[in-house]
Amino acid sequence: MKEKTTFVCQNCGQTYVKWVGKCSSCGEWNTVVEEKIVISKSSNMLKSLEKPIKIIEIEQEHLERISTGYNTLDMALGGGLVKGQTILISGEPGIGKSTLLLKIANHLSKHQNIIYASGEESASQISVRAKRMGVDSENLFILNSTDVDYIIECAKEYNTRCIIIDSIQTMMTRTIESSPGSVAQVRESTFKIVEFCKSNMIPCFIVGHINKEGVIAGPKVLEHIVDSVCQFEGERYNLYRVLMILKNRYGATGEMAVFKMENNGLEEVVEASAFFLSERRKNAVGSVIFPYTEGTKPILIEIQSLVLKALYTTPQRKAQGFDVNRLAIILGVLEKEGKIFTRDSDVYINVVGGLNVSEPASDLAVAIAIASSKKEKPVQENMAIFGEIGLGGEIRAVHHIEPRLKELERFDIKYAVLPKSSIQDIKSTKLELIGVEHILEAIDLALR
Ligand SMILES: Nc1ncnc2c1ncn2[C@@H]1O[C@H](COP(=O)(O)OP(=O)(O)OP(=O)(O)O)[C@@H](O)[C@H]1O
Ligand SMILES: [Mg+2]
Repeated sequence: MKEKTTFVCQNCGQTYVKWVGKCSSCGEWNTVVEEKIVISKSSNMLKSLEKPIKIIEIEQEHLERISTGYNTLDMALGGGLVKGQTILISGEPGIGKSTLLLKIANHLSKHQNIIYASGEESASQISVRAKRMGVDSENLFILNSTDVDYIIECAKEYNTRCIIIDSIQTMMTRTIESSPGSVAQVRESTFKIVEFCKSNMIPCFIVGHINKEGVIAGPKVLEHIVDSVCQFEGERYNLYRVLMILKNRYGATGEMAVFKMENNGLEEVVEASAFFLSERRKNAVGSVIFPYTEGTKPILIEIQSLVLKALYTTPQRKAQGFDVNRLAIILGVLEKEGKIFTRDSDVYINVVGGLNVSEPASDLAVAIAIASSKKEKPVQENMAIFGEIGLGGEIRAVHHIEPRLKELERFDIKYAVLPKSSIQDIKSTKLELIGVEHILEAIDLALR
């Protein structure tokens, strides 16, 4: 048995041979702690010494898909769970991670044993939630343990066909001496679970906490080890939640599934666009319909802006669900190229529904929302807007045009303001397309 000491930054996972006050990798202070690693046996995932095989001779495995019980989630995952797939689920405290997984566990355990290992809540706490949600499966076992090695033993003994780990930050393995939640423990525990699930073809859900910046806590390697990463978004005090697929080895990324928090758990929202637009006021100043997609399935959302005379000498720029740095660039372009002056105004942006929109196609929707509020003119009725804005005010082509237009058609949107250069890719559409090349032109055509 070998013992090794290393110093690990608890924020980013950077290792050092001696203690340092400030992590040179992430710049955080006092995050480096000593960790003892007792290596009793190889912790390497690749245990067999297999010979290299020619790629053309590798036999294709048939990817059998298992339903999670939620159709929209299955679609977002590329058709359902794959045997041996490991999925990391992260999100703010109280957003509904345990609620979602309990429902999935209930569905999956209809004909096979499932272990739900919880290191956060007691069995009776989970049982209260289970009663409320109508979870009634005979084959669903709750295991109150933080010991990964023991959980794996139980999984073997009970012939478990899916494992749920809630959460990885509470788990520990005996191979390592540092405390639960430390970088080394999180990494090693995940390795062990993933290795077990892969070799036994068992799908596994792992709950991961997020840190104060909203990214998954612990080592970045966590996201690399698992097959898929899903992040819960939405406002905790709001009823709906969006599960974004940030990484997927078995399907497209950027897909989403929308849920609504009900008394009996999370219900899927099949018509997400209708849901997000349900409270939109027609002809409202500063409001724009934007077909949002980072994957293959777009949803229509409302982007709002409010521009008012600044109260203080430094005008406010605040954005909910949109990057403020990007907002600053858009305001600069609006001033120089779009003749929309906001230097003496407070500018607020709100992406309705608590979504975080980061795709560049949202630039034009945000810019027009600002122009609409500033000019106090509503955007034309039944119009959607999307396109990337360059620093010269030019409107650049964006991806996934056809799916966006299809979704707009489904909701009886009549006009789409979009980059002129994107129009040539469109085969057919019922919408009236308004191709624009410059921000000034877009403002003129969009506002009545
Ligand atoms: N009695 C109830 N009726 C309806 N909804 C409830 C009830 N109790 C809790 N909830 C909802 O469930 C949410 C908590 O969900 P859950 O415990 O699954 O979150 P979590 O993401 O696992 O949080 P944590 O990170 O703290 O474990 C609450 O925020 C609330 O919206
Ligand atoms: Mg929980």
